[in-house]
Amino acid sequence: MSERAVSDDLMKTIVSLCKRRGFVFQSSDIYGGLKSAYDYGPLGIELKRNLMNEWWRAMVHSREDVVGLDASIVMHTKVWEASGHLAGFRDPLVDCQVCKERFRADKAPKLAAGEPAPMAFADKGRAKAALAALEQAGETGLTRSKKAIRGAVGSERGYVCPNCGSPFLSAERAFNLMFRSSIGPVDPMGDIAAFIEGGDLPAGTELRARLEELIRPSAVYLRPETAQAMFVQFLNIQQSMGLKVPFGIAQMGKSFRNEITVEHFTFRSCEFEQMEMEFFCEPGTDDTWLDYWKQARMEWWQKFANDPDKFRLRAHEPDELAHYAKGCYDIEYLYPWGWGELEGVANRTDYDLQKHAKYSGSKLEYFDPVERKRYTPFVIEPAAGATRGVLTYLVDAYFEEEVVTQKGTDVRTVLKLHPQLAPIKVAVMPLVKKNGMPEKAREVVESFFQRGINAKYDAQHAIGKRYRRHDEVGTPWCLTIDGQTMEDGTITLRDRDTMEQRRISIDNAVHEIEQLLRD
Ligand code: GAP
Repeated sequence: MSERAVSDDLMKTIVSLCKRRGFVFQSSDIYGGLKSAYDYGPLGIELKRNLMNEWWRAMVHSREDVVGLDASIVMHTKVWEASGHLAGFRDPLVDCQVCKERFRADKAPKLAAGEPAPMAFADKGRAKAALAALEQAGETGLTRSKKAIRGAVGSERGYVCPNCGSPFLSAERAFNLMFRSSIGPVDPMGDIAAFIEGGDLPAGTELRARLEELIRPSAVYLRPETAQAMFVQFLNIQQSMGLKVPFGIAQMGKSFRNEITVEHFTFRSCEFEQMEMEFFCEPGTDDTWLDYWKQARMEWWQKFANDPDKFRLRAHEPDELAHYAKGCYDIEYLYPWGWGELEGVANRTDYDLQKHAKYSGSKLEYFDPVERKRYTPFVIEPAAGATRGVLTYLVDAYFEEEVVTQKGTDVRTVLKLHPQLAPIKVAVMPLVKKNGMPEKAREVVESFFQRGINAKYDAQHAIGKRYRRHDEVGTPWCLTIDGQTMEDGTITLRDRDTMEQRRISIDNAVHEIEQLLRD
């Protein structure tokens, strides 16, 4: 099998496991699904929360110099004007004139002008229809063979459609990635209707500009990043908490981008969660802090991984840097389809504070009481994807292993999730549903609940099947109550990764699991 087929297969397997075992479902599934939106099921939400809680623990609860914020998703429109998102948050979009795929020009497969551009379709019927449409549009020299069309060549654009390979493309258009809505008592549709009824409409771009004018007063946007609230609240937080620079403000939560190219399951979706921290420091110390944070963040991701070598730090080339950044490192993961960004650690300089100071008229400065000097801090920003992190660890944890059974060999699927991330920490199982075993198992589950540990009572199917089921959802430990338990008060503790079993005292079970969780 080709590398591409293997990676497609692995992703399909993971997507299917996510649905089958209650991790992630397509949004609005029964209505055919909403592309690019996902719902985290009973196990998915536990995994996502565990990941985000670990981030919060590392970034806020383990440090004296970082505090938290939970800002509203809808903010004043001036925020987005100041940050440049309203004007600049755009992707160059192109429509394929053959298969109608809409895609980002900067992400499309490259093809030099004049090079052969073979096109491929899902079936013969589609290829036939595409050839007929191209010929009708005046294209000549094209031939069809089964599902392929040959004879086209690359254009000056230097890229082709990622779906069918066609070089026949629309012009590039800028497109704002922010979701727009309206706020307040006045529905802009009323103004638009009155404007149209008034007749004498301008044409083209002027019409569009007039309509934009009518919408603008009530327009609000869903935040495309959590970062801006931390700049906007910089002064309130610094003053209310009496913070001294350097200090950070951390926030995690939903962000929204009208992504046109949604790809690889939850990797790029329209609604996702971020974990971002803005670290305010004195200009001149920014390079040192960038080094510090890129290392700290890299180590954090690697700590929970089975294969830390699949994470790397990549410095941005100067032409890759965002307009506000002086330096940036991406923490990347080797996904089944190749390296992809998981977190960006950027030196945003004083760009954002300066912009918000200018647009709001507030002085967003810091007064150093010791040095008796005033300055606008520089900002180092580690910006991570929480939902992307969940996908990363699912890929990292997925294993298929050959195991020896009484009947020969078998393949077990196991999610080797780090115990801190695992949705269920321990499954408690009565060997049979009689002789007091279920009652004993429920007592054990209750004792875990009392310690805040997510335990699960499981008595369905044969014991071997139950072990497999918990291997597949990443439960690190299973405790089994059997006949011997009722006699000597011991239970078996099974380890997910080694599958080894040992007997421990039932009275010590909670303490034992707590100890393992700490290791
Ligand atoms: N404040 C800077 C910022 O938002 P970004 O690189 O656009 O930077 C940070 O986003 C992280 O958010 C990315 O590294 C990625 O993990 C995640 N992210 C961005 N867009 C996403 C999307 N459409 N779907 C899922 N995660 C996304």
